[in-house]
Amino acid sequence: MAKDFIHKDIKFAKTLHSDYYIDSEKFSRIKKIFHKKWHFAIHASEFEDSNLIPLGRMGSLMNEEIVLSKTSDINPLSNVCTHRGMLLVNKKCTLPRINCPYHGRKFNLEGKFQSMPKFETVENFPTVEDNLKKFHLQEWKNILFLSKNDHENFHDFIEFLEKRIGWMDIENFSFEPSKDRSHVINANWALYVDNYLEGFHIPFVHGDLNKIIENESYKTELFSNGVLQIGYSKSKDLCFELPEESPDFGSNVAAYYFWVFPNTMFNFYPWGLSVNIVVPLNIEKTEVIYRGYVKNPHLTSEGAGGDLDKVEIEDQEVVEAVQLGLSSDSYSQGRYSPEKETGVHHFHRLLIESLK
Ligand code: FES
Ligand SMILES: [Fe+2]
Repeated sequence: MAKDFIHKDIKFAKTLHSDYYIDSEKFSRIKKIFHKKWHFAIHASEFEDSNLIPLGRMGSLMNEEIVLSKTSDINPLSNVCTHRGMLLVNKKCTLPRINCPYHGRKFNLEGKFQSMPKFETVENFPTVEDNLKKFHLQEWKNILFLSKNDHENFHDFIEFLEKRIGWMDIENFSFEPSKDRSHVINANWALYVDNYLEGFHIPFVHGDLNKIIENESYKTELFSNGVLQIGYSKSKDLCFELPEESPDFGSNVAAYYFWVFPNTMFNFYPWGLSVNIVVPLNIEKTEVIYRGYVKNPHLTSEGAGGDLDKVEIEDQEVVEAVQLGLSSDSYSQGRYSPEKETGVHHFHRLLIESLK
């Protein structure tokens, strides 16, 4: 029981028990939480040069293979052929219909069965079961989210972002393929999230970032399904031009770091948005996918969002070392800094709560 409890008051609380990072039974239970959530899919600007976008990571996140197809709508379809289960679309492309590469079954872009060779004599065929299954899709400012079962209220999911940065014209950001990254790290997914949720380590781990961000004013705010961290710039010229309706009007915001439970991070910089998607591959292997959407291309190498690759490598080294440390028999739990680790505490409480 003590292992599955995080005290509400951070001053009394012990950190998440190490079993959560190393025990495979816990890992299987946690993965089921992912299946019930909304997941970031794409920004609509990604359809500029194609009409079919497969999202392979959804296999790990939702246990579903998914392809998005663009007609007058965007259709979130199963990427699995209804004949014998072949994956249909394996890369971003433009096609007039979806063709199975295995035995030639065809579907239209809405996922409706169209034709199949050598099936003329099959009885009761085709039926709706031969169409591609559809999933749930929601959109916020041209950012598309997918859900397998629509269990989580989408309005609740997005409310905090809307209130805080509703003024930003994210609709007009553009996908920037040169910012695509995929890092596979030897650590549990939750360690990557733990590390993301505190700026405590910045002066120790990120020497260059520390020169840009003010350490004393770094702010962490909790909301029902996530955490916002705000980094303030030491200089006036590397920050957002905030409009009066922004709750942060008048301050030198260098970066907004939003994390939405369990695995999505929206990092807003004056140049645009960097999304990190944390994909648990197995108990001690995690893929971190980066996608970039640009508003002000001339600012991409400036400020807190300037050298993201360096910051990422510094974080990964720490997280992989913590995985080794946590796995040792003599460590099981630590304590939190009430001043600096409220985000990590909140995450651990949300995780325990979701497993009930
Ligand atoms: S698996 Fe697709 S046509 Fe056979
Ligand atoms: Fe970091």
